[in-house]
Amino acid sequence: MSTWANLGLQDSASPLMEQLIFFHDHALLILVMITVLVGYLMFMLFFNNYVNRFLLHGQLIEMIWTILPAIILLFIAFPSLRLLYLLDEINEPSVTLKSIGHQWYWSYEYSDFNNIEFDSYMIPTNELSTDGFRLLDVDNRIVLPMNSQIRILVTAADVIHSWTIPTLGVKVDGTPGRLNQTNFFMNRPGLFYGQCSEICGANHSFMPIVIESVPTNYFIKWISN
Ligand code: CUA
Repeated sequence: MSTWANLGLQDSASPLMEQLIFFHDHALLILVMITVLVGYLMFMLFFNNYVNRFLLHGQLIEMIWTILPAIILLFIAFPSLRLLYLLDEINEPSVTLKSIGHQWYWSYEYSDFNNIEFDSYMIPTNELSTDGFRLLDVDNRIVLPMNSQIRILVTAADVIHSWTIPTLGVKVDGTPGRLNQTNFFMNRPGLFYGQCSEICGANHSFMPIVIESVPTNYFIKWISN
């Protein structure tokens, strides 16, 4: 999870998020190069005394500064498209979790396992234990196995919500009357926190998501209880 003065992206817990971070760094590097170049040119213009009184057109430079930015944009567009299709790919999921957004809590259904279902409410600050995270912990966590493909089905019962977990690179809108799908693969154990990220009403900030990523045998033990 994000802690004090953590301004960048959180460490990834899935291969897709790792790719998203690589793409972010790649795009940022291109952005920095453009900013430095344009900044330098603008700065130097203020101290330039040369004047060309007969300058009316310049075909060559127009060609260069039209085609060059177009080529630079391709270097962002192609990796972006690659990532878009990579995120959309579903590879034979072994567990399916259905999450339903409500005002203002999430409820979950494990459709593969006897249709286990439960609600997941945020723990209020006055009931929080000393090792709990304020506005981030819930009473019933989602337990899911690490190192396996997991499919998430997202929907909502009242207004639009968004099931978002930064460390896993997951962000799917829960829309009433629709069933949206995404998938992820957790490559390490741990607690992964998320929040609703669609402005859904007065208590929008108070419907967090907590995933417990555990080894497969532990998950089987949990699910059979
Ligand atoms: Cu649910 Cu914001």
